[in-house]
Amino acid sequence: MKILLTGSNGQLGYDFKKIFDQKNIKYIATDYKELNITNDENLKKFFQENEEITHIINCAAYNDVDKAETDEEKVWLLNAKVPKKLSEISKKIGAVFVTYSTDFVFDGKKKVPYNEDDEVNGLSKYAKAKIAGEKFVLESYNKSFVIRTSWMFGMGNGNFVKQVINWSKSGDSLNIVDDQVSAPTYSADLAEFSWKLIQTEKFGLYHITNDGIASKYDQAKYVLEKIGWKGTLGKAKTADFNLPAKRPAYSKLNSTKIENLLGEKIPAWQSGVDRFLEEMKKNGEL
Ligand SMILES: NC(=O)c1ccc[n+]([C@@H]2O[C@H](COP(=O)([O-])OP(=O)(O)OC[C@H]3O[C@@H](n4cnc5c(N)ncnc54)[C@H](OP(=O)(O)O)[C@@H]3O)[C@@H](O)[C@H]2O)c1
Repeated sequence: MKILLTGSNGQLGYDFKKIFDQKNIKYIATDYKELNITNDENLKKFFQENEEITHIINCAAYNDVDKAETDEEKVWLLNAKVPKKLSEISKKIGAVFVTYSTDFVFDGKKKVPYNEDDEVNGLSKYAKAKIAGEKFVLESYNKSFVIRTSWMFGMGNGNFVKQVINWSKSGDSLNIVDDQVSAPTYSADLAEFSWKLIQTEKFGLYHITNDGIASKYDQAKYVLEKIGWKGTLGKAKTADFNLPAKRPAYSKLNSTKIENLLGEKIPAWQSGVDRFLEEMKKNGEL
């Protein structure tokens, strides 16, 4: 087994590297510098020099949802064209292909968790590109996994939990939106459940998020209580901020497909936050 990880300096990439190191699994970790996946020449050279790749796990993406509204070409390239290209390469070399998508593929009109076969309707340029990426991959290569997740936090990059902690340091009152609801997901849990899923070879589309449901306000409240912040937390509305990209009001994903397959429940998001804060402490970041 020899795995190619792309976008390996990000949140999910960080946790895949940890798993592979612990399990002594051979992998090649690449980000921008080592392998710019938007550059066909870079890709060609990489696969000429590296044979016998058995899995390509694509952790790279364009994730700035607001910036994507005015950066259409780049978001389309990274979130739609690259997954297509990597799935074509995987097909050519017979490797398993894994790529990630988002809860934002849904418009948020449902009031109960979204299943894998629910109709998609992206509200933003980011979401529309992800939808196209999913479709290309699932239609073109039957040894692919497309995994949707939501509201990720982990050590490898910036995220909402880190942001809330930073905001708490510079003020004694904070207002966080309570009209966006989904499931915060710890990248360590996502990597672990993804790896278990990949080994089943039951290819297709899956939802993987931490268990439970929260608004951004609920998540911030939990984090701020855990770190012992003494300030005042208020509720805000999405409309108060006038952000460029539209977000779904409700985008909780139902993960029972993978839970039934593995016979294992994914931990609650609160447990994910607890373990993440411990990890930050250990790394001297809290
Ligand atoms: N974060 C979330 O809340 C969230 C929610 C739903 C779905 N997802 C999906 O889950 C997956 C993993 O997300 P994540 O949060 O781990 O992402 P992340 O932390 O943003 O990491 C993505 C990595 O890809 C790299 N990258 C960007 N362009 C590249 C290129 N052309 N060639 C090679 N590498 C490139 C980035 O480098 P730079 O940082 O230098 O650009 C970054 O290191 C993505 O598909 C994402 O869309 C994430």
